[in-house]
Amino acid sequence: MEPIANADAAIRIDSHLDGTHERSLAEDVLDGLTRPFKELPPKHFYDARGAELFDRICELPEYYPPRAERAILNESAAELAELTNAAELVELGSGTAAKTRVLLDALHEAGTLRRYVPVDVTESMVRSSAEALTEEYPGLQVHGVIGDFERHLGRVPPAVGPRIVAFLGGTIGNFPPGSRRRFLREIARLLSPEDHLLMGTDLVKDPQVLEAAYDDAQGVTAEFNRNVLQVLNRELEADFDPEDFDHVALFDREHEWIEMRLRARREHTTLVRALDLSVHFDAGEELRTEISAKFTPERLEGDLSAAGLELVRWLTDPDELFALTLSRSADVAAVASNGSG
Ligand SMILES: C[S@@+](CC[C@H](N)C(=O)[O-])C[C@H]1O[C@@H](n2cnc3c(N)ncnc32)[C@H](O)[C@@H]1O
Repeated sequence: MEPIANADAAIRIDSHLDGTHERSLAEDVLDGLTRPFKELPPKHFYDARGAELFDRICELPEYYPPRAERAILNESAAELAELTNAAELVELGSGTAAKTRVLLDALHEAGTLRRYVPVDVTESMVRSSAEALTEEYPGLQVHGVIGDFERHLGRVPPAVGPRIVAFLGGTIGNFPPGSRRRFLREIARLLSPEDHLLMGTDLVKDPQVLEAAYDDAQGVTAEFNRNVLQVLNRELEADFDPEDFDHVALFDREHEWIEMRLRARREHTTLVRALDLSVHFDAGEELRTEISAKFTPERLEGDLSAAGLELVRWLTDPDELFALTLSRSADVAAVASNGSG
């Protein structure tokens, strides 16, 4: 990995993908498409086209999470800046960093902000947000990390001061419960006693509202879902016809998560040439492309506590659609309460 120093010294970008992402895609496809119930992990949605489609999803009337999360940030950013004194904001799955600006504004205003560290698998997003943010916030250093947060958390640079690790957009919901706790434990290891985790989670609500959010009237989410097949066609020389699949979004009431699937319209066999793999689909057979877990306060606290984290603030929007939680290492909390008691 070669660090790429920008002409503007405020920006440094490290890429850790060099081939590993392609290998991970190949492994995931080989593993996921040969299972009895076919499945692909959602990180492969986000090529440049997928990232663009996700941006459009965020503007859709049915997709309430970004608006609800932004409303919470607008309401609480100053308090979060005061509570954390953060010199650094590390953001996992940063995307366009659209809502992040609310937090950056508050930290800038508080006079503590020195560095922003976006971590995302989509190279174009890390580069364009680094360029835009160094222009918008004079004096801000941006150290971008192009990588997979499931593999490259260890590549997040050492902190320059108290830090907030932000994981917004409800992306934590993409992890099934066991790996969710494991991943939260890995994030917890990034936190020194003066650091905080700020995490966005979508809340359990009326299934109709949830299903509409993942199956919009304009069909943008359907296009986003099918785009993963184009990624496979391009990267692994597969011959999927996206039109052979229907987009499906269902709320699983038992697990309290949304599932996105692609359902084969007809029986057919696809060839994934780079893997020398042929994949048979029966008519109506489904490929699961994403789960998006919805949370209750109890579930979230259970997950945080299992990861060695303690809740500092639970923040929600007036309609209680979405939650932002600020937490810190439970060891710090124990030391603080022993000290004060
Ligand atoms: C649901 S979007 C959220 C974007 C942004 N945080 C927001 O709140 O609008 C998920 C983001 O995480 C990134 N992402 C998904 N899986 C990833 C992974 N394993 N490693 C790094 N980034 C990932 C995607 O590229 C995308 O930008």
